[in-house]
Formats: sequence, C-alpha cells, structure tokens
Amino acid sequence: MNEVAKTNRSWTRLDESDSRSFMARVMPINIGAMREASMATLEQLHFRLAGAADAEAIANLHADSWRRHYRGAYSDAFLDGDVFADRLAFWTDRLREPDRRRCTILAEDGSLVGFANTVFDDDPRWGALLDNLHVADGHHRRGIGSRLLALTAEAILERPHRTGLYLWALEQNVDAQAFYRAHGGRCVERAPAAPPGGIASRLTGSPTKLRYVWPAELLEPR
Ligand SMILES: CC(C)(COP(=O)(O)OP(=O)(O)OC[C@H]1O[C@@H](n2cnc3c(N)ncnc32)[C@H](O)[C@@H]1OP(=O)(O)O)[C@@H](O)C(=O)NCCC(=O)NCCS
Repeated sequence: MNEVAKTNRSWTRLDESDSRSFMARVMPINIGAMREASMATLEQLHFRLAGAADAEAIANLHADSWRRHYRGAYSDAFLDGDVFADRLAFWTDRLREPDRRRCTILAEDGSLVGFANTVFDDDPRWGALLDNLHVADGHHRRGIGSRLLALTAEAILERPHRTGLYLWALEQNVDAQAFYRAHGGRCVERAPAAPPGGIASRLTGSPTKLRYVWPAELLEPR
C-alpha cells in the first residue's frame, strides 16, 4: 500500500510540466522523437497501478491487441477462440494479491487505453522484464506507450537494487521494434517464441522473438 501511494505521488509529478525533462533523464537516447503534439494530448491521461478489479479490462485490451498484432505468430484458432478466457484467467491470477516483485501500470482516458506489466529482477544479466506493453487500438502514436515505458523506468529506479530493463518482441512485430529502437532499445539476440500458456498449438509454425535491452546505466538519472 505504501509502495503504491509513494509511486502514485511520483507519477503525479509526471503529469506536471516537467514531464519532458523527466523523460529526457530516464530515456536519454532518442527521446527527442517525442512530439510536442503528442505530449499535449497526454494531459487528459491518468496513470495508476492496477488492482484486482482491473483484471477484466486489462484482459479485454490484451486479447484485442494480440488479435490485431500477433496474428500469424499466434494461431487463428487461439486468437478467434480462447484468447480472452486465457487472458482473463492470467490477469485474475496475477492481480489477485499485491506483489512487490511486479508492477502493472495502467493508462486511462475515461477507460483503459494502455498498460505496462513489469517483473522486477527477472534476469541476472538484463534485469527487469517488461512482460507486456499494449496501447489500445485508436490510441497509438499519442505518446502513451512512451509514457508507460518512462514510468516503468521510474519504477525500476525506485527499487533499492537498480537494474536494466529488457523485453522480448515477436520478430514479425516490426512496429513495436521501431518503437523500442526509437527509445534506445538494443536488439541483442533471437530465440524461438514461447507459446502462450505453454500450449504449443497456440503458435503458427515456429515464430521467433527478439530480445531488446536497456542496460542499467541508460535508466540512471544523468
Ligand atoms: C508498440 C506500442 C506499445 C507503441 O505505443 P504508442 O503509444 O503507439 O507509441 P508512442 O506514441 O509513444 O510512439 C513514440 C515513438 O515511437 C516510434 N513508433 C511508435 N510506433 C511506431 C510505428 N508503428 N512505426 C514506427 N515507429 C513507431 C515513433 O518514433 C514514435 O514517435 P512519433 O509518433 O513522434 O513518430 C503500441 O503501438 C502497441 O500497443 N502496439 C501493439 C501491441 C504491441 O505490439 N506491443 C508490444 C509488444 S512487444
């Protein structure tokens, strides 16, 4: 609870006029790509940590995003069938109890328009895992993903043991890769994609994924 309140206070700071300088501090590479216009449209957004009551809304956005952007790697049968039930079970379980080893940040604009889920201290070499980052269809290129990424970096900086950040992106997901590269992410390796829920039939063929990393020094304040 204290951690949530503390984090929420610092996020409130991000809604103030210093948000651009904050983002330049935590995402030093290519942050100039942020447009003035997209920053202006962010003023009406609200960011907060997710709780158990948010599971269904997150599952809806997650399932919709997978249907739109993961088709070809994930099977049509899964995307047109079980995907919402799978995501609802996943998020209901994940958000059942507060867990200091993870954080799920929501972006709301009347309703849920994006979320970022991070597992702290996931990998001894690369640090925290940005496990999910999704912005709702119709809200892309407003700067929401950038803000969620910056808030994720801030959450890592608030930890007693600061680490780097990494994620996996499907190789076919070239738009997401352009976003990560625009924020200084570096691709360091390729590996076979894991099927959702560990069920092999949910993949189409043998898709690959790419690891993007931000070493700890890139997240440190300058
Ligand atoms: C990837 C994603 C999270 C980016 O979020 P977003 O809010 O649309 O991104 P932003 O508006 O913050 O983009 C910031 C910059 O990233 C780059 N960028 C973002 N999307 C891009 C795209 N489709 N193609 C090329 N560059 C892109 C641009 O430099 C952009 O700045 P600009 O709009 O001034 O040109 C979002 O598109 C999304 O949810 N995609 C579907 C789900 C997904 O693939 N998630 C990632 C899983 S690994």
